[in-house]
Amino acid sequence: MNRIFDTHVHYNEACYDEDRESFLADLVTSGVSRVTNIATNVVTSLENDLYTRKYDFMYGTVGAFPTEVDCLSEPGAMDTLERLLASNDKLVAVGEIGLDYHYDDVEKSVQKEYFEAQMDLARRAEVPIVIHSRDAAKDTLDIMRSAHAEEIGGVMHCYSYTKEVAREVLDLDFFFGIGGVVTFKNAKKLKEAVDYIPLSHIVLETDAPYLTPEPFRGKRNSSAYLSYVAEAIASIKEITAEEVCAATWDNACRLYKIREESI
Ligand code: NI
Repeated sequence: MNRIFDTHVHYNEACYDEDRESFLADLVTSGVSRVTNIATNVVTSLENDLYTRKYDFMYGTVGAFPTEVDCLSEPGAMDTLERLLASNDKLVAVGEIGLDYHYDDVEKSVQKEYFEAQMDLARRAEVPIVIHSRDAAKDTLDIMRSAHAEEIGGVMHCYSYTKEVAREVLDLDFFFGIGGVVTFKNAKKLKEAVDYIPLSHIVLETDAPYLTPEPFRGKRNSSAYLSYVAEAIASIKEITAEEVCAATWDNACRLYKIREESI
């Protein structure tokens, strides 16, 4: 059976409250050997500290989502994130951070300020970043370049831009998180980008509970469905799903600096 590393999940969401223990136990038996639970604010960063201590196969991040950065203006909030990173080896990145111009709940200038501040945090803690970027390709790349993000490293999660933008992201040696959207019939732009991006820079992700792949689209997502994502990438690249799972496993370990023997 293929080992699968799901690099981006939100298993602390309320839709898993009723059956979380059995749901996570089933994942492990279905071949999902590692997941990284991604924080979106200070509360979920603290939850990730507990979750990663409780579940062997789970790694986690700390950080605030672009439209939730208000929580970082509370006194001591950034210190809390820094302390968590320093005290728990299974908290392996800062994320998800970045820019989201789709909704205008938080001003662009405020989003940019906290994107930069959280990149600084990652640099100090010597961990990579997980970037969320929606409708904001140019500003995201500008900030990454001026902050020398290539020295920090990380992943562009739920990659949704063109192959031209992908070329610029590759210049910074970032990974690309590819998930359920690649199984959608109308995802032409993404399929072109996946064809262009070398397999050495692709990691698998669900963004569970969101973005469920075909044929389960619309239902609560699960890392177990990543086999469908692996199949879709394999058919674009004309290789086998096994090769996709093996390469993306190695890539995910490189991304999060997790040693093989630490499983
Ligand atoms: Ni996410």
